[in-house]
Order: sequence, then C-alpha cells, then structure tokens
Amino acid sequence: MHSIARQNRAPIRSKVPDVRGEKGLQLNQQTLSMRLERVAAHVPAGACLADIGSDHGYLPVALMRRGVIAAAVAGEVALTPFRSAERTVRENGLEQRITVRLANGLGAIEPGDGITAISICGMGGETIRDILDSGKARLSGQERLILQPNGGEQPLRQWLMENGYRILCEEVLRENRFDYEIIVAERAGPVTYTAEELYFGPLQMQARSPAFLLKWQRLLREKQRTLNNFARARQAVPEDKVQDVARQARWITELLA
Ligand SMILES: C[S@@+](CC[C@H](N)C(=O)[O-])C[C@H]1O[C@@H](n2cnc3c(N)ncnc32)[C@H](O)[C@@H]1O
Repeated sequence: MHSIARQNRAPIRSKVPDVRGEKGLQLNQQTLSMRLERVAAHVPAGACLADIGSDHGYLPVALMRRGVIAAAVAGEVALTPFRSAERTVRENGLEQRITVRLANGLGAIEPGDGITAISICGMGGETIRDILDSGKARLSGQERLILQPNGGEQPLRQWLMENGYRILCEEVLRENRFDYEIIVAERAGPVTYTAEELYFGPLQMQARSPAFLLKWQRLLREKQRTLNNFARARQAVPEDKVQDVARQARWITELLA
C-alpha cells in the first residue's frame, strides 16, 4: 500500500478558547466545523492536497498547522474567498507551503504540484461532478478524492463509477440541522454499483450507521409529503415525476424495513 494511504485518524481538537455565540462555535483554521473535521480525517498523512473551492482556506491551513500535510494548493474561483484564503495563509505564515490560486475547478492544479489528494467540499454533488469532469485532464489517477457534497450524491457516485473510481469510505453526519455526506474514492479500474448503491451509497448501505438511518427516515417523510402534495395538486403532476418520487419512497422503505 502507498505510504500516504494511511489515514490521518488522530482526533483533532483545538486548544483555542471555545467561543460560542448565537451561531455556535466560532470556526477558523484551528477550530474546524465537525463537517470539515471529518473531511480532514480522510486526508492521508504527508499528502500534497489540492483543496478546490477552499473559500477561507481553513482546511489546508488547519492540516498544515497540525503537521498532517506536506504541501497544499487552495483553489478558488471567486475573488472574495480567494483573498480570504490568501489572508488565512499569510496570517499563519504558510505562504511557502500553501499556494492559493484563483482558478476554476481543477484548473488550480499544475503538473509540478505533485498533488496526491483532492478535497472538494461544501458544494452540490452535481457541481463537484462537473468540476471533476471538466478537469479530468488534470487528474493523474493517483489522487485520493475526498468529496463532501451537499446533496446530489447520486450523480456524483455515478461519475465516480463511470470513471473507474472505487468508493473507499463514506460517512453521513449531521451538523446544524443539515445532513452532510463525505465520499472518499480512488481510481481502481472498472467498478460497478447498482442503482440503489448509487442512490444510498454502497458502503453506507452496508454499515447502516445511526446518522445514515436517521437521514433516510427524514427523507422518507419528505418523499411521502411530496407524494401527498402531488395527489392534492390542482394541476396534474407529470406521471414520470410522480413515479420517480414513488420509486425513491419505495427504495427508502425497503432500506429501512
Ligand atoms: C460553500 S463554499 C465551501 C467552502 C469550503 N470548501 C468548505 O467546505 O467549507 C464553496 C466555495 O466553492 C467555490 N467554488 C464554487 N465553484 C467553484 C469552482 N468551479 N472552482 C473553484 N471554486 C469554486 C465558491 O466560490 C465557494 O467559495
């Protein structure tokens, strides 16, 4: 096994004062959200990380401060978050180790970077898929992908399957009343997932963690509400739409049975 494939599992807890306000814990490059903390746990020790859509740059800066990663690129497509990432890197004196680039998607990665892990977090699954797809030429195939979609997991898993990425690890976690998923994948040759596995996540279906089951209980109620609304709607809802939601409700019911 490649030496960097070792997981960085050590619990990472900040020693900074626990500043709680109305919005809860103050988050920064030392105190990550639980969501980013779980993403961080999947970045292999010694990695050269490309964090795409880095925003404030907290993830690469936290990982560098903790001595987990060797180098990083923080990519941002928008000017304000790009400047914010630059500031975080500068204030932590990490300009020599973390390069901040204003770029669209994987355009932030240059051939000489030697990237071994790519994180793309806090965006819709379709957006992450589009970033991967349009930046395919920048992928060497050796990188671990650590993806944290906010919805749209199914099309993202579909892309991973179609491009020979095996899902190595999956997590569901709930924070601030949102369910978040983390999908870790590496290119491994042809891989086949069933339609249900693409929908629920192949490993999560097996593991059936409490967070996963709670998420799908909530979603089942949502689907049932949608079907009731369709039935009461004044204008007929297209049959294929009704059938699609009904199929999802059936799959979820079977999963939870
Ligand atoms: C909601 S923030 C998430 C920030 C951080 N990754 C996290 O998980 O906390 C999404 C960021 O992705 C950036 N973004 C969206 N599309 C992008 C793209 N195609 N390339 C680079 N950055 C992108 C946005 O500008 C924004 O700063």
